[in-house]
Amino acid sequence: MSRRVLIVDDEKGIREALKQVLEYEEIEVQTCASGHEALRVYPEFRPHLVFLDVKMEGMDGLEALKRLRELDPRAQVVMISGHGTIQTAVEATQLGAYDFLEKPLDTDRILLTLRNALQHVVLVSENVRLKGEVHAQYEIVGSSKAIRQVIGLLEKVGPTPARVLITGENGTGKELVARAIHALSPRAAGGGPFVEVNCAAIPSELIESELFGHVKGSFTGAFADRAGKFELADGGTLFLDEVGDMSLSAQAKVLRALQEGVISRVGSAKPLTVDVRVIAATNKQLEQEIREGRFREDLLYRLNVVPIEVPPLRERRGDIAQLVAHFAAELTRRGGLPPKELDPAAVQRLTAHDWPGNIRELKNAVERLLILAAGPKVTEADVLRLVGTGDGGVGRGPAGAGGEGATWLRAGTFEEFKQAAERAFLLAKLQEHDWNVSETARTVQMPRSNLYKKIERYGLTREGGPS
Ligand SMILES: Nc1ncnc2c1ncn2[C@@H]1O[C@H](COP(=O)(O)OP(=O)(O)OP(=O)(O)O)[C@@H](O)[C@H]1O
Ligand SMILES: [Mg+2]
Repeated sequence: MSRRVLIVDDEKGIREALKQVLEYEEIEVQTCASGHEALRVYPEFRPHLVFLDVKMEGMDGLEALKRLRELDPRAQVVMISGHGTIQTAVEATQLGAYDFLEKPLDTDRILLTLRNALQHVVLVSENVRLKGEVHAQYEIVGSSKAIRQVIGLLEKVGPTPARVLITGENGTGKELVARAIHALSPRAAGGGPFVEVNCAAIPSELIESELFGHVKGSFTGAFADRAGKFELADGGTLFLDEVGDMSLSAQAKVLRALQEGVISRVGSAKPLTVDVRVIAATNKQLEQEIREGRFREDLLYRLNVVPIEVPPLRERRGDIAQLVAHFAAELTRRGGLPPKELDPAAVQRLTAHDWPGNIRELKNAVERLLILAAGPKVTEADVLRLVGTGDGGVGRGPAGAGGEGATWLRAGTFEEFKQAAERAFLLAKLQEHDWNVSETARTVQMPRSNLYKKIERYGLTREGGPS
């Protein structure tokens, strides 16, 4: 199939040089010296790809990009940026340009970008078919405007090869978004893997070997040749989780891998070509990290082609009821917990809570409620015991304010959790029996003396707070 590429640049030298490189690749080329001319030529020539200069006399590249995409929303554009216009080129990728090239133009870079972009063109037409099929593979629950925006964006970007940087607080669902993007990509459809690497969990002296692999003997402990995550993700997606925690030297290597599509194992000079789509995530403010010299600005540009910000749960409280129902159903179906209804008042309490740990924390809370609620239903009182009074600051206030609550949710270890659970359980039983210790002791099958000890130890009172 013959490919058509339109080159738009007001510098004759650039037009000629690019044309020569492309024609050598047997690509049909037309050139324009201005944005206006490009808009005239585009509809007849119907190029698969446009190379567009950022800085031109008259209509500049950004304006031309906008108009081209109005003309054809699927127009594929690669910006050509000169010295000093790199920021604009990055902006352009956020406006829908596929990628950008920096002057002076380098033949290898041109060809790589060309190859990727043209591959992308083929894929774009496959999207529509793919979309319906993969929807079921990921389940992002919620219908708030905030989450619908996220879903809209990921459905748009998923089928493209664009890199995505996902930001958001802990537990907001960044990984889920990354997996959904992969699931929507032709890479997944073709059997390509989703490979995850948590940059924060790997000691900095091992991160390079983890990402790029190593050869036997390259450092103490390297007993055999080993492939890195980039190699394992070949043909698929590499999810760089907590990318803000990567060492500067690893960042330099990742940058090279992204720019050139080439890696080498630690201890080896042999270049390996890999075809990997990178999705990165972080809960850090990378701009801040850059200012403090901990993160490379050029790497941010490369990673952040399409930014997706996942909003915290407190900014989409409307989703909480739906999430609670979803998790409760999932936990009873797959987690083997007995089904238990949630009182509407209980759900209301959960909705009022601030969830600093976001969806992960909510999911844990639902699990704990199902395990620990004393009766056949999860009641408002159960929730209060779990999260406190629900005034927003719950679970973090002084021990007394949330009654028994705070500690259930905040329990750091399983031991703490068990104790908190026992405390709450005993309290519920005592209340159920109108503080009848003998009756409760029988119900919980515990000698009365033990129960008295526990009442004392946990400082239980009829009101639920410590005595
Ligand atoms: N919208 C959602 N619908 C259903 N489940 C969700 C949703 N968002 C997150 N989850 C679930 O919540 C948990 C936390 O999500 P995930 O691990 O994706 O968050 P994260 O932002 O990567 O967290 P961290 O910053 O801690 O790495 C997971 O079990 C995930 O399946
Ligand atoms: Mg995560």
